[in-house]
Amino acid sequence: MTITIAIDGHSSCGKSTVAKEVAKELGYIYIDSGAMYRAVTLYCLRNDLVKEGVVDEDGLLRQIHNIRIEFRKNPETNKNETYLNDENVEDEIRNPEVANMVSPVAVIGFVREALVELQREMGRMKGIVMDGRDIGTVVFPEAELKIFMTAAPEVRAQRRYDELIAKGVSVTMEEILKNLTDRDRIDSTRAISPLRQADDAIVLDNSRLTREQQLAFVLRLARERL
Ligand code: CDP
Repeated sequence: MTITIAIDGHSSCGKSTVAKEVAKELGYIYIDSGAMYRAVTLYCLRNDLVKEGVVDEDGLLRQIHNIRIEFRKNPETNKNETYLNDENVEDEIRNPEVANMVSPVAVIGFVREALVELQREMGRMKGIVMDGRDIGTVVFPEAELKIFMTAAPEVRAQRRYDELIAKGVSVTMEEILKNLTDRDRIDSTRAISPLRQADDAIVLDNSRLTREQQLAFVLRLARERL
């Protein structure tokens, strides 16, 4: 059987790492729903739709139809990359400027409606691993496998710090930790589709797990359902 796998959880706990590896093992498509919220945020930052840290919702509503988000496979790396109106923004959407504004953008109802519709379309044929905050609760409530991932905040901050430093982005641990805890708070307390564990989700705390161990955990559960 071909199934849908939903991986939700806190900021920067390695959802995308395990989601990509599971998709590769099963020959499934991997979709990073967070990248879509990040791309909308980048559009807002570039088009003067953020004023003094506040999103201009009316302005964004008028322009939302100009925003086209796609994933295209890079033939060299074989990985999906995020495109905003035909421009490759895969790296730029990971920058701290975007990370600092993405959760306020992701609370906006019409943004969520547009992206959820796109996500459902991408998953119509199943055979997909999607990670995010509301995938098991809202986007694919019928998913055969739902994982809720978490890890200690310090562990998550260290991983994100290492990742950004390796890419040459200049950040401090304090900034990262603040961004993660702020996002977790906004994501978990928002009115529409807050981050929460679906009743039928299986918890994976990977604070003390290696990549191989977390992959084995999810793959075993997936294979039981194929
Ligand atoms: O990679 P990381 O865990 O840091 O974040 P991400 O998955 O790229 O998501 C960035 C932000 O997008 C989150 O903090 C949420 O505010 C928002 N998001 C969401 O609201 N719903 C989703 N399904 C995915 C992301």
